[in-house]
Amino acid sequence: MHGFFARHYDLVMDLLFLGTYRHFLRAVLARMELKLGDGVLDLGSGTGRNACLMTKMVGPTGRVLGVDTGEEMLRQSRSRCRGYPQVGFLKARIERPLNLDAEFDKACLFFVFHGFENDSKEQIIANAYKALKPGGALWILDYSEFDLGKVWRPLRWAFTRVECELALEFLELDLEGMLRSAGFADFRSYPFYRGYLRLLEAHK
Ligand SMILES: C[S@@+](CC[C@H](N)C(=O)[O-])C[C@H]1O[C@@H](n2cnc3c(N)ncnc32)[C@H](O)[C@@H]1O
Repeated sequence: MHGFFARHYDLVMDLLFLGTYRHFLRAVLARMELKLGDGVLDLGSGTGRNACLMTKMVGPTGRVLGVDTGEEMLRQSRSRCRGYPQVGFLKARIERPLNLDAEFDKACLFFVFHGFENDSKEQIIANAYKALKPGGALWILDYSEFDLGKVWRPLRWAFTRVECELALEFLELDLEGMLRSAGFADFRSYPFYRGYLRLLEAHK
């Protein structure tokens, strides 16, 4: 992500969610039950807003690693999280093999996953699986499965203007099935915003 949208990503999200984004994010992070000392891998870490909140939750004995490709996103995240030595940001593509082996208690993909082709999605899931310790959990926050044709017209209009073609396909994806094929199990799903968004928890 780059340009105007990258520079003002947080503001755009706050406006898009009519000022509720901050509370929503806190509710999502509460579900992740981050503990002091946890290691967290944030794939597609954006402006570092989430990584910074998570860093405070895992404390000085924990660790957060954000991975992103966007220069502007990495610049904002590094600036925002300066002062927290336990957080780092890596410039890498999350659909390419990452050199991370069983190091993390938790991994997350927030509003990232829907933008990839299915073979890249499989590689991202494989990366997350490999990076997690046995028993570790992956958290995917994204669109739920829903029928866009039945959605309130203004919302449908906004969705098709803002989102890419892959996001439309994502609405029909059997995400649990894809995760199960990669070895994940023990799923839990938490709906948000009338069920249009979902936080999916899956365990290694
Ligand atoms: C919609 S933003 C979400 C950011 C963050 N997860 C959040 O919830 O605030 C998607 C992020 O994924 C990053 N991204 C897109 N493709 C990527 C890739 N192939 N590898 C790593 N990061 C990628 C973008 O640069 C952007 O920061």
